[in-house]
Amino acid sequence: MDQQVHVIDHPLIQHKLSIMRNEETGSKDFRQLLTEISMLMGYELSRDLELEDYEIETPICHMTAKRIAGRKLAIVPILRAGMGMVDGLLSLIPVAKVGHIGLYRDEETHKPVEYFCKLPFDIEERLVIVTDPMLATGGSSIDAVTMLKKRGCKRIRLMCLVAAPEGVKAFTEAHPDVEVYVAAVDEKLNENCYIVPGLGDAGDRIFGTK
Ligand code: PRP
Ligand code: URA
Repeated sequence: MDQQVHVIDHPLIQHKLSIMRNEETGSKDFRQLLTEISMLMGYELSRDLELEDYEIETPICHMTAKRIAGRKLAIVPILRAGMGMVDGLLSLIPVAKVGHIGLYRDEETHKPVEYFCKLPFDIEERLVIVTDPMLATGGSSIDAVTMLKKRGCKRIRLMCLVAAPEGVKAFTEAHPDVEVYVAAVDEKLNENCYIVPGLGDAGDRIFGTK
């Protein structure tokens, strides 16, 4: 796999993802597991954040301590399903700002259609984490990142749960500068551009709409 793509296959993540894939898992558990996996993935995604020194007094003595350096973060879910990954990341990085990009896949063409975009005013200064559980054809993630680049964003990462090889290829060709974090790369897309074996329609399973 390309160096730009990080497959975060920790045993806890694989275990939780298998429960999510099971069609018998209901929305409540599906949402909870997605939040837990997002937190675990966020731990890896944030591994290389820069630290800086600062001075504190412990109850015992003075010390030079570490904290995350000034780089500001934004989490940008692709609506709707990307919303399911926000709380897990916010539990790790509570000061992050949250923007929203609304895209849906046209049922016939499978191409993404934009319907909403609201971002923090200083988005171009932030490290942006785009979230979407599914990287299928890659169209939605490619368009979301293009929208962010048009608004001046230079440091962007993409966090997905399940990807198809076709989506990984299309995304990395379109945005070779954006690191991708994914829990699993599955076998293929089917004739409806759903990931196989996948987990079905992520938005419907999160929100119980089907
Ligand atoms: C799903 C999913 C991704 C997109 C992935 O969204 O959440 O955004 O499809 O497919 P792609 O890689 O082929 O673009 P959907 O359009 O079903 O919208 P929803 O999240 O509102 O259900
Ligand atoms: N969107 C989903 O929610 N699931 C897929 O498998 C593909 C696109």
